[in-house]
Amino acid sequence: MPRPAISPAAPAAAGRAQAAPTAPSLDEARARWRDAFRRVRAETESRAAHLSVEDQIVQSMADASPTKWHRAHVTWFFEQFLLVPNDPAYKIFDQRFPFLFNSYYVAAGPRHARPDRGLITRPNGAEVTDYRAHVDAAVERLIASAPAADAARLFAILEIGLQHEQQHQELLLTDILHAFAQNPTDPVYDANWKAPRASQGPRGFVDVPSGIHSIGHAGEGFCFDNETPFHDELIPKMRIARHLVSNAEWLEFIAAGGYTTPALWLSDGWTTVQAEGWQAPGYWRQQDDAWHVMTLAGLKAVDPAAAVMHVSYYEAEAFARFAGKHLPSEAEWEVAARANVIADAFGLAWQWTRSAYLPYPGYRAAEGALGEYNGKFMVSQMVLRGSSLATPENHARVSYRNFFYPPARWQFSGLRLAEFVS
Ligand SMILES: [Fe+2]
Repeated sequence: MPRPAISPAAPAAAGRAQAAPTAPSLDEARARWRDAFRRVRAETESRAAHLSVEDQIVQSMADASPTKWHRAHVTWFFEQFLLVPNDPAYKIFDQRFPFLFNSYYVAAGPRHARPDRGLITRPNGAEVTDYRAHVDAAVERLIASAPAADAARLFAILEIGLQHEQQHQELLLTDILHAFAQNPTDPVYDANWKAPRASQGPRGFVDVPSGIHSIGHAGEGFCFDNETPFHDELIPKMRIARHLVSNAEWLEFIAAGGYTTPALWLSDGWTTVQAEGWQAPGYWRQQDDAWHVMTLAGLKAVDPAAAVMHVSYYEAEAFARFAGKHLPSEAEWEVAARANVIADAFGLAWQWTRSAYLPYPGYRAAEGALGEYNGKFMVSQMVLRGSSLATPENHARVSYRNFFYPPARWQFSGLRLAEFVS
């Protein structure tokens, strides 16, 4: 199900009926934002709490960041975009930190090289904890004291910071899983972690409403700028799989020579299969004649009924070709999700679409550093829809657009199929 956005004043959740929100008083809004801020900040710490000091400094590849860096970077985001421009009394915690913990915001100044984040053993974890506490206190002071005329604008920046931190909460898990998957002892992130189960019920394909449909974000509630403008798309006559592709179906693909049949693959995909030696999804390993997979609970036998995860766009596309089907476009996915005809749209695995990550018609990134958030990445990547088991509660929406490069498979990424009707 679509989940409401964080906004305490105007919950989103496109695709389901909403009662008109009543505007809270300023004091109520302050209290709600303070509570939302505390909830999100605490969730980051709760995810990091499963990890040792040593776990938190490791960087297993350039695309993955250390937990300690995630904890500091999301804190820098509030310092840089909320506190420094809006609180004249705010004192930067440490003048060296903006260089270390700026990610990709060129307009916010120079920054440390991304692939070298794992080399930063100082500041240590305790200093990052102090940094978080310093910024937490300052943000709460600002929430409590923002002048009435400025409150809506400041709360809007605060909300971007909270949504941003939630995105990093997911990355914290995907990045540490990648690190643990490099460790021959198969470390366990959380022994009590259990994968959510895929929906049961009849499989097969269901009709997607064809014709012209509007997609994107409209109305009240938070969205990222890449979900706008709300606009029309033409949906052909088609059907979409009710369920995600399962591990059982992926095992058939492997057994049928899916990874050794070049005709199934895009050229770049086949090059990647050969260069990387892919024979199965990411984190899969054969042990005692059975496939196992590295999970947040350690190495586990592959569950045939579970949705396949850790597949790249190249693999998803090759599987669709193997199955005689296609991947849905992001517009087809969104129309199907809004029509409520698909299971597990949210909460299991992000679903690759055949849509390149491009601006919607009329999209323009905002001026200034925050305009760098999404717009400058709109080339060479593919869109994933839905959300995953690692996505925080209250974060995803039916119009949400995730995006990664075609070879990426360290996210919880899967697929559902589509077929076209002549
Ligand atoms: Fe970030």
